[in-house]
Amino acid sequence: MRMSGLIERISGDGADAWVTHYAARAAEDRGEDVVVLSVGDPDLDTHPGIVERAVAALRAGDTHYTPASGREPLRQAIAATHLARTGQAVAIDQIAVLSGGQNALFAVLSCLAGPGDEVIAFDPMYTTYPATVGAGGATLVRVVQSAERGFRFDAAAFRAALSPRTRVVLLTTPNNPTGVTMTDDELAVVAEAAVQHDLVIVADEVYSGIAPLGRVPGLAARLPERVVTVGSLSKTHAMTGWRVGWLVAPRELIVGVEALTMCMLFGLPGFIQEAAVTALGLSATCEATARAYLDERKELMLAALADVPKVSALRPDAGMFVLLDVRGTGLSSAEFMRRLFATERVSVVDGAAFGRATDGFVRLSFATRPALIAEGCRRIARFCRAL
Ligand SMILES: Cc1ncc(COP(=O)(O)O)c(C=O)c1O
Repeated sequence: MRMSGLIERISGDGADAWVTHYAARAAEDRGEDVVVLSVGDPDLDTHPGIVERAVAALRAGDTHYTPASGREPLRQAIAATHLARTGQAVAIDQIAVLSGGQNALFAVLSCLAGPGDEVIAFDPMYTTYPATVGAGGATLVRVVQSAERGFRFDAAAFRAALSPRTRVVLLTTPNNPTGVTMTDDELAVVAEAAVQHDLVIVADEVYSGIAPLGRVPGLAARLPERVVTVGSLSKTHAMTGWRVGWLVAPRELIVGVEALTMCMLFGLPGFIQEAAVTALGLSATCEATARAYLDERKELMLAALADVPKVSALRPDAGMFVLLDVRGTGLSSAEFMRRLFATERVSVVDGAAFGRATDGFVRLSFATRPALIAEGCRRIARFCRAL
């Protein structure tokens, strides 16, 4: 069947990187002995209070259409969370509730950048970004943040990437896959360029609540008229499957997002929104649980990988991933991923899926059971020794 230009623009990109992951998941479903370290979805249960609220709302008949931008109590709870994390006070009409951070990214980029426009994003980046930027017809301009710089912001490369067509700068802090959090000084360079070139900054902060301080440096309070913040309950509240995310943005942009919502999402289910209000009321508990869970597992993984020959693991600032430098093995990161799975049945993700900067690295998730982390690292060590 002939597909639209939109589908052509968003198909195919990076698909190879996930073949191993899907093969590992299928093997796991068949009951085979595999260790899946390829996905960032903690095996934490959603807090029972949140689940009970959803069930109660369903039983009470909360099964009808809801307002396109989300119910007021949820938007109030998001405003309070946003204020605590960023220091920016917002009105509820500056908030749109969407179906996860991914949906929010799609909505805001569709509103802001189309054919002829450029969106700057930092490489390595979350794997959906190229398609999400490309869907609306905009061009993705990658600013490579090299391994040699610890994958940190490169001001000179950023400035060189700016052009009269730049409309948006897409930041991810903390970053997936590197776990790097941007500093105030790095952000100041972006802020200055945004003002000078009239740009919008889209800050994907879905991991900020599980950063060590429960927040990260940001620009929302400083540049409220040009910063859009993307948030989500997925990572902070162990709610990946609930699909609750949001945008905090200037009102004008929310109006555009509402128009898009009417032809795409048509409102998040009411019982999910009620549970999300409960979740935001339980943020302190949920985030502390997620942080403790991740800290323990991160240390386990780093310790288990410390003496593995030919590779070295990078300590992340935040998030749920460790990058492993495999350039000393003589294998490309894609070969490392494929052969590790073929011989040891451990799935990881080829860093090249996230960009050029992480070619030569593989991404390991530590959001899984300690016994699996230990076993996966044992197998990685055996694999590396045998090379
Ligand atoms: C950087 C980043 N942004 C956005 C998302 C999307 O998350 P969700 O749609 O579950 O909120 C993810 C998920 O892994 C991510 O890593």
